[in-house]
Amino acid sequence: MKNQTSSRKLEHIKLSLNKDVQFKITNQFENILLLPKKSKTVAQSEVDLSSLFLGKKVGAPIFMSAMTGGHEKTFQINKNLAEAADEFNIPMGLGSQRAMIENNSLAYTYDVKKYHDIILLGNIGIAQLANYKPSQIQHMLDEVHADALCVHTNPAQEIAQPEGNLGFKNAFANLKSLAESIDYKVILKEVGNGISKEVAEKVSRTKVYGIDTGGAGGTNWIAIELFRNYSHDMDFIKEWGIPTAQSLIEIKSVFNRSVTATGGIRTGIDVVKAISLGADSCGIAMPMLKANKDGSKGIKHYIARLIEDIKHEMSLLNCANINDLKALKFTINAPLSDILKQRNINLNYLR
Ligand SMILES: Cc1cc2nc3c(=O)[nH]c(=O)nc-3n(C[C@H](O)[C@H](O)[C@H](O)COP(=O)(O)O)c2cc1C
Repeated sequence: MKNQTSSRKLEHIKLSLNKDVQFKITNQFENILLLPKKSKTVAQSEVDLSSLFLGKKVGAPIFMSAMTGGHEKTFQINKNLAEAADEFNIPMGLGSQRAMIENNSLAYTYDVKKYHDIILLGNIGIAQLANYKPSQIQHMLDEVHADALCVHTNPAQEIAQPEGNLGFKNAFANLKSLAESIDYKVILKEVGNGISKEVAEKVSRTKVYGIDTGGAGGTNWIAIELFRNYSHDMDFIKEWGIPTAQSLIEIKSVFNRSVTATGGIRTGIDVVKAISLGADSCGIAMPMLKANKDGSKGIKHYIARLIEDIKHEMSLLNCANINDLKALKFTINAPLSDILKQRNINLNYLR
């Protein structure tokens, strides 16, 4: 079991890098049309991307979404990610820390704060909360000096996973009591199948600090697991999920705490649209992993290009800063507009 958790982390990395594991459905941001601010033009060099994450100032409204740790070969990946996060002053998410609870000698693979002063997000699966006491989770976070905890919920991934854990029965109650017991802010995240308004409403009645969409349209965890699951034909659930833009609007319509957008964020325009719709920041996973092919230099190059793209888009929209972006007018086009209508999503939170 212990070795299984660790070697699965490595298998996930290999499959992510070598197979086509992106959703065919899109993140739906293509159906958001932003309208430029009517004011004097803003040059790219005048754009200020600084914003807040967990109440701390960061260099740009982007972060590295949870990926890895838990196998000796993942240590260097985490170190490279942390070096790049430090350079741009953006937060970094760790992959599930279950492996270090099961085998504490692997804790070093997550311990990147030893080398870089960054905002670090710990990570654990919601199904695991049944197996660990809050004090164990607290200790796991203390050990890596995390700034907050992301709890990932991933029922569709677990269904597709050959050794998947379907123990979600008390998951929500466990999440609620964890958020009440530990000294860390807790963020609920999906891994690519999205979070609905109904779930966000439930979360709003707990002490959970924030929600990350983890929406569909980017990396597809069902596809990844199906490459590992030879015994069962489950292609029917491959395109399951709420696209990121829809999930973001659904959550924001009922949840007035921190919301971040992850899932298929690939371009500057994806970031600009998500922030304009109310996300505090955008998480990016797979492109960071791919950029790591050239080590920390590759990741830094990728982030520098993305930041440049975000600034170009903001300049085209006459937005000098994040507040300008959040005040932009926009239209929501079909089919997303129809889906939101059928779902009775209250758009009043939007200007
Ligand atoms: C190689 C890899 C490993 C991941 N491992 C985790 C994990 O351990 N915990 C978690 O919450 N999410 C994990 N994720 C999911 C990401 O955090 C993110 O939600 C998802 O990949 C969608 O973002 P993307 O389209 O930018 O890749 C992983 C993603 C990748 C690519």
